[in-house]
Amino acid sequence: MKYQTSLSLSLLALLCLLAVSSTGCGGGATASSTPPEPIEPGIPYKKFTDAVHAVMMADRTVYASKVVTRLKKQDAPVTPSEYWEDEDHTIPLPAQMFRMGSELVFENPEAGFTYALKSKWPLNEQNGPKSEFETKALDFLAENPDENFYGEETLGGDKFFVAAYADKAVAEACWSCHNDHGNREDHYPEFAKDDVMGGVIVRVPIK
Ligand code: HEC
Repeated sequence: MKYQTSLSLSLLALLCLLAVSSTGCGGGATASSTPPEPIEPGIPYKKFTDAVHAVMMADRTVYASKVVTRLKKQDAPVTPSEYWEDEDHTIPLPAQMFRMGSELVFENPEAGFTYALKSKWPLNEQNGPKSEFETKALDFLAENPDENFYGEETLGGDKFFVAAYADKAVAEACWSCHNDHGNREDHYPEFAKDDVMGGVIVRVPIK
């Protein structure tokens, strides 16, 4: 199956952002000896979702490793806390940063897509699967940790291309915080290194 989306300016800008270091974009030609790859007059949906997912993961990793971990190493008087809104000297957890970003994108009609971090075992029930497709995607990722899941879904009469990417327990902080969390329900798994803890779901409206 081949998915094509027409190029909106925001998508083009995003790809430019991604490509700029290696190929340069549009008018801002680089002095690099390698000529830029010509951009196709349409981005396959899969390429688009893979690209935005790469940016999301990079931002989350940078926040976790360069902000949260750095503060911790310095014994800083500011700590990450789930209850940062009510507690002084705290900052949001990486998952909360991720969710707040996704909420802003959801409210932005120019964005052209939506995304969410979900799990079959959510600490915040808001992050549980909300459609048959999401349940199927999260089941697939749990069984195939090294693959992505792509497909189409119709919601309220609107059609979407949907991509799902595994979210794994890459650092001890992931499983220790989740395994010890007060919100865990009885059927909550005991997560260990590299386990799939959930998935990032990216949704693009299509015709
Ligand atoms: C200090 C505790 C803590 C750490 C460390 C942490 N999480 Fe979470 N995680 C949470 C909380 C709390 C939520 C719910 C956030 C919200 O309100 O949306 C969450 C949400 C999630 C979700 C969405 C489903 C859910 O449980 O609500 C996934 C998937 C997830 N985390 C995976 C990870 C991974 C992978 C790591 C490591 C890279 C990680 N978490 C590190 C506390 C933590």
